[in-house]
Amino acid sequence: MDPGGAVVLVTGAGSGIGRATAYLLAARGAHVVAVGRDAAALRDVAEATGGTAVQADLRDPAEAERSVRAAREARGRLDGVVANAGIGHAGPVADMTAEQVARLVDVNVRGTLLLGRAAAAAFGEQAAAGDHRARGLVFVTSIAGAVGVPGESVYSATKAAVESFAVVLREELRPGGVTVATVLPGVVDTPFFDRRGVPYDRTFPRPVPPERVARAVVAALESGRARTVVPRWLAVPAWLSAAVPGPYRALARRFS
Ligand SMILES: NC(=O)c1ccc[n+]([C@@H]2O[C@H](COP(=O)([O-])OP(=O)(O)OC[C@H]3O[C@@H](n4cnc5c(N)ncnc54)[C@H](OP(=O)(O)O)[C@@H]3O)[C@@H](O)[C@H]2O)c1
Repeated sequence: MDPGGAVVLVTGAGSGIGRATAYLLAARGAHVVAVGRDAAALRDVAEATGGTAVQADLRDPAEAERSVRAAREARGRLDGVVANAGIGHAGPVADMTAEQVARLVDVNVRGTLLLGRAAAAAFGEQAAAGDHRARGLVFVTSIAGAVGVPGESVYSATKAAVESFAVVLREELRPGGVTVATVLPGVVDTPFFDRRGVPYDRTFPRPVPPERVARAVVAALESGRARTVVPRWLAVPAWLSAAVPGPYRALARRFS
């Protein structure tokens, strides 16, 4: 799809990767519908991009659909969705409370799947009404969903779930001209680590700026490319982990 003149909903648009994506989409001529919880941050993004702010807590199962409705009301249609909102957690699963597990699943999985559902329904309705513009969905997942990061079992599982959802949704929406892409960032320099309460303290891999991930997200919307790993070299461990899981685990244990 072409972002120029498109209406694109971005979740988690008030911070980090989502904010960088909102700015880049606006620079390419899109009308951005910025979704998230932090009203002040969303207002800033909406003002700077000429877009629309929609305050929504995606833990609430009704909010994904309401956000999509608000986006369509803002400009009469919806052309793209970047499902980016997400939270992290680091630490052994036995030390997690049930509430912490539920929060990760609610935001990273349920909220994201409900957004995909609402977007698919909206795109279908628009096509049925004779609007056959190209449309796209991008899910911001994580390299953790592909390789499984030690100490981040629940987080890794939530991201793997969305990868799996995207694989099937891609085939489901293809006949309607809707592309479904995933972007798998490695380590990104955003407030993500502060928010989860455990800093990123490794020297390698080095965090990349959120703008780099935003470029991959916008490129995925434009091209419909199924899966993009950022930085690109992390595609090698992702491939190894899937192709030869035993030797990959042995190597990961040795070098992590
Ligand atoms: N940073 C990394 O190293 C990294 C690596 C791989 C993947 N990712 C993924 O990239 C995505 C963006 O993360 P980021 O690095 O940009 O972190 P971030 O700066 O902390 O941004 C996370 C965004 O998610 C939104 N969000 C969280 N809970 C929400 C809820 N209940 N309802 C609505 N919005 C909610 C936040 O909005 P509010 O501030 O309004 O709550 C915030 O804008 C996440 O899915 C994350 O898992 C990040």
